[in-house]
Amino acid sequence: MRDQRRAGLLHDIGKLGVSNRILDKPGPLTPKEHARIKKHPGLTYEVLMRVPPFRTIAEVAASHHEKLDGTGYHRGMTGEDLDLPSRILAVTDIFDALSQGRPYRPAMPMERVLGLLKEESGEKLCPRCVGALDDLVSKGEL
Ligand SMILES: [Fe+2]
Repeated sequence: MRDQRRAGLLHDIGKLGVSNRILDKPGPLTPKEHARIKKHPGLTYEVLMRVPPFRTIAEVAASHHEKLDGTGYHRGMTGEDLDLPSRILAVTDIFDALSQGRPYRPAMPMERVLGLLKEESGEKLCPRCVGALDDLVSKGEL
């Protein structure tokens, strides 16, 4: 639980290596800018591995954009490679990103967020994790 929370808090620390000009850009990204952003999980891994108490969470934190079908980044891992903590973080990161506003779009309504997660459940996202999140929202706990 503690490691899951730490990975959740530090998973995007690699974004410190990406220019705010790109991160806060209100319009669409160029392919080069997109490629730069896609490096942030690898940078997260490098940073966390340099801090001994955080080495145990580096792998999970760096896997937060991976998908079960191998279409995620930065390593293109698949469901066989992704443990439960990594799957939880992938789902909660998307939930967090979509339910909050960004410079380039407003926050999405909860129903739409859950709908998008359910669309990717099974092929790209862990159905168990998406189901657990849906249950928490249904119970009013999120
Ligand atoms: Fe990220």
